[in-house]
Amino acid sequence: MRRWQSDRILFGGDYNPEQWPEEVWAEDVELMRRAGVNLVSVGIFSWALLEPAPGRYEFGWLDRVLDLLHDGGVDVDLATATASPPPWLARAHPETLPRRADGTVLWPGGRQAYCPSSPIFRERALALVEAVAGRYADHPAVVLWHVSNELGCHNAHCYCDVSAEAFRAWLRDRYGDLDGLNAAWGTAFWSQRYGDWAEINPPRTAPTFANPTQQLDFLRFSSDEQRAQLRAERDLLHRLVRQPVTTNFMIGTGVKALDYHSWVDDVDVVANDHYLTAADPRAHVGLALSADHTRGVARGEPWLLMEHSTSAVNWQPRNVAKTPGQLRRNSLAHVARGADGVLFFQWRASRAGAEKFHSALVPHAGPDTKVYREVCRLGADLAALAEVRGSRVDAEVAILFDYEAWWGVELDSHPSVDVTYLDRLRALHDSLWRANVTADVVHPSTDLSGYRLVLVPTLYLVRDADVAALHRFVAAGGSALVTYFSGIVDEHDHVRLGGYPGAFRELLGVRTEEFFPLREGERVRLDDGATADVWTEWLHADGADVLAAYADGPLPGVAAVTRHAVGEGAAWYVGTRLDEPATDALVARLLAEAGVRPATTAPPGVEVVRRRDGDRSWLFVLNHTADEARLAAAGVELLTGTTCAGELVVPAGEVAVVREDGTVAA
Ligand code: GAL
Repeated sequence: MRRWQSDRILFGGDYNPEQWPEEVWAEDVELMRRAGVNLVSVGIFSWALLEPAPGRYEFGWLDRVLDLLHDGGVDVDLATATASPPPWLARAHPETLPRRADGTVLWPGGRQAYCPSSPIFRERALALVEAVAGRYADHPAVVLWHVSNELGCHNAHCYCDVSAEAFRAWLRDRYGDLDGLNAAWGTAFWSQRYGDWAEINPPRTAPTFANPTQQLDFLRFSSDEQRAQLRAERDLLHRLVRQPVTTNFMIGTGVKALDYHSWVDDVDVVANDHYLTAADPRAHVGLALSADHTRGVARGEPWLLMEHSTSAVNWQPRNVAKTPGQLRRNSLAHVARGADGVLFFQWRASRAGAEKFHSALVPHAGPDTKVYREVCRLGADLAALAEVRGSRVDAEVAILFDYEAWWGVELDSHPSVDVTYLDRLRALHDSLWRANVTADVVHPSTDLSGYRLVLVPTLYLVRDADVAALHRFVAAGGSALVTYFSGIVDEHDHVRLGGYPGAFRELLGVRTEEFFPLREGERVRLDDGATADVWTEWLHADGADVLAAYADGPLPGVAAVTRHAVGEGAAWYVGTRLDEPATDALVARLLAEAGVRPATTAPPGVEVVRRRDGDRSWLFVLNHTADEARLAAAGVELLTGTTCAGELVVPAGEVAVVREDGTVAA
């Protein structure tokens, strides 16, 4: 890996000059300078212009764009331009088009219409990368390379014959022989035994539930295929250019198909795209979760926010615009949680095409607008925050996250459709957010020794080694909380026998003999006054203390929340879906037991996060409320230059960043 280094916080966005006549470009650069833009991503969807016919490259326009940007002092994150193949590829090679599980062909005319396993696509894409990298390796504007764009956004799962062949090769590699595959897939069931590799296909639309391990392996394979494209382009770039290489991940907006924890070593710096769900009144908490997860994927290193929006997007049912100040709060919330760059989609709002109603840094109405003025203010803010760059985010809590567990738990024919992977993750993270406690969202194989508390939401599929590591963490004095439907299966999606929650039984000191999922809308009460829904289970304490039991519902008197003392620490289990106040109360008890304190105490709705670099620290305070907030903080407020001696006042909707001068407020 090459290390990413920059002496400033990056600021800019996707720049698509090919959508505009050249007269506009000079104005673009002038407006970028005024806003303090220092990095733009160029060429993301330019394949059809750069290679208008097979093997015929036209770089003149890109030469002029890069020179103009360089003369204007704007650096470039240059795309390999492979995100969307030109129409000529599908015409010459229809077998490069992806297919859905039911055989539907996905045609060109949108974007990303290629089969991720297509050797023809790969060959043409790498030829383009070679041409682009060869031409611009030494261009002084280029400081970063951008592989493809959101790999797998629209074509993550392809079920065509080319993919089937690649899937078989991937399975041979994983299992060696058919006996291994038949055992792992449990093909003794429903007459599914395979006698020849050629009989195996992707889990195409079938009369009923497809084999769950086949589905799980296909999800693994599909993530690996996208990753293979990243690695192929990255390897070629590493041979041809000296700048670092990245691609934009989609962590935290519900994208499930790509196992980013396994991709992190394939990029020189982690970059992420995040878009708010406008209909969600707590979208800013979802933003925090995305950022905490991106930082977890980046193993705590600073990362880049490669895309978000200045205001509305175009692809939700109702594309709500950002209110004044929201752009700034959203951007600085990412910086608070470890981003060293804030970029947007896109520089200038398009006149034509499917994204013409997507916001941009320069809206259709031009620069005399709320959006462009806020963009300029943000540019000044980020310049004032330059010293924060490279620092780390303080976090004493880890939340374990595994894409494979997500894939597994949401397979079909399970006890309840209401058990979904993100539900408890979001609930626990939300409780921590309200408590102003920052958590890293990390893979279960992460070294946990630096944390005080580990939360384990719905880790349905878990490996033995990760369970053992969690056990060691608790025995050494840590606290852990495991939620229901965790530890149920091994990596082949085979049930761990002897009682649930399987892999975690010993650590938690409990044994469940039967699940009792609740009916839609059904609620139960606990004997401590809490309410819960979705899930209950016939749980026996087997060494653990019972903290709360059901007062009604199908299992009156049965344990719902337990705590098991293990070595120097404790492992807690919650066997039902607690309501929000009960979740907050449980999290508060865990934080107290683990000795975790908030970044500082703040009024509700005021978000506080600390970044630190050795002895230096910075407190980010984001006021999401309609009232002025006052809280304890001492130091210099970087955005206003004022000193706060003990008390910081943050107006409604505003953000403050305090250099704490060695003093720690909490
Ligand atoms: C991203 C994509 C961009 C643009 C944006 C719109 O998924 O990378 O190219 O489409 O969404 O929100």
